Amino acid sequence: MAYVTEDNLTDVALERWKDIPDPRLRQIMQSLIKHLHGFVRDIEPTQAEWATAIDWLTRTGQMCSQKRQEFILSSDVLGVSMLVDAINHRRPSGATPSTVEGPFHIPNAPPIANGGNMAENCPGIPCFVTGTVKGLNGEPIAGAVLDLWQTDGEGLYEDQRDTQGPYMRGLYRSQSDGSYAIRTVAPIAYTIPMDGTVGELMDRTNISHMRPAHIHFAILAPGYEGCVTHLFQKGDEFIETDVVYGVKEPLIVEFVKKPPGKTPTGETVSTPFYEVKYDFVLQKQAAALAAAE
Ligand code: BEZ
Ligand code: FE
Repeated sequence: MAYVTEDNLTDVALERWKDIPDPRLRQIMQSLIKHLHGFVRDIEPTQAEWATAIDWLTRTGQMCSQKRQEFILSSDVLGVSMLVDAINHRRPSGATPSTVEGPFHIPNAPPIANGGNMAENCPGIPCFVTGTVKGLNGEPIAGAVLDLWQTDGEGLYEDQRDTQGPYMRGLYRSQSDGSYAIRTVAPIAYTIPMDGTVGELMDRTNISHMRPAHIHFAILAPGYEGCVTHLFQKGDEFIETDVVYGVKEPLIVEFVKKPPGKTPTGETVSTPFYEVKYDFVLQKQAAALAAAE
C-alpha cells in the first residue's frame, strides 16, 4: 500500500478506480481521473478557487428543472455537445450533417400540408423553404417527415412566448418525388439564456452569446438514418461565432430576398419575402444497406 504524496496521488487514485467490473465504466473512470488530475495539476487552484468552482456547479444543478437545463447549456457553450454529436453521427460526405437538437424542440408538432404555413399570425418576414429529401445515390425519398421548429421574426421560440397551442413549429411530409414546401417567417439571431450560471461565466469573457439565425429540422424516413440539423442564414453576423458551435459549411444557405408577388408555393404575397432552397441528403440505415448486399 502506497501512502499518498502530491507526486503519486494520480497513480494511487487510478489504481483504486481499477476495481470496477464493468469494463466501459472502468475505462471512463480511468480517463476521467487522468484528465481531471491533469487539469488540476495544470491550473493549481487555490482552495478558494476550488470552492468557487464547486459553488458554480452546485448553482448550475440547482437551476435545472423540467424547463431549464443549465448543464446541457454548459456543455453546448464549451463545444462538448457538438463534439458528442459529431462522434455519434459520422456520415459520408454528401450526406446532410447533423447538429445538436438544442432545448427548444417540442414533440408532437402539428401536421401541416405541403406548402402550408407554420407561422400563421407570427411576426416576421414570410419565408418559403423548398427542396427535396433524397438518398446518397440521389433517389427521392417519399413520405419523409420533416419536423421544424424555429424562432419567429422577433427571435422568440414557443417556450418564450405566452401562446396557447403550437407556435413556430410543424410536421411536413415529402411528396412522391421527394419534394417538400414550407411557408414560415425568417428567423433572426438570438441570445442563449444569459440569466443563469452559464451567462454569469460568459459575462466574464469576450465570447459572443449569440446564435446566428437558423431553422431547426429533424428528418425521419423509413430505412434511412434520421437527421437532426439546422439551416443557417448565409451572411448572418454571428455565423462564424455561433456560441454553441452548430454551424457547418454545408448547412449555410442563401435567404434570397424577393419583391412582393408570386411565391414558390404558388401564393401571391403583398410584402417582400425570402426564398430558401435546400436538398436534404439522408444515409441508408446500416441494416437497410446490409439487406441490400
Ligand atoms: C438552439 O438552437 O435552439 C439552442 C441550442 C443550444 C443552446 C441554446 C439554444
Ligand atoms: Fe435554435
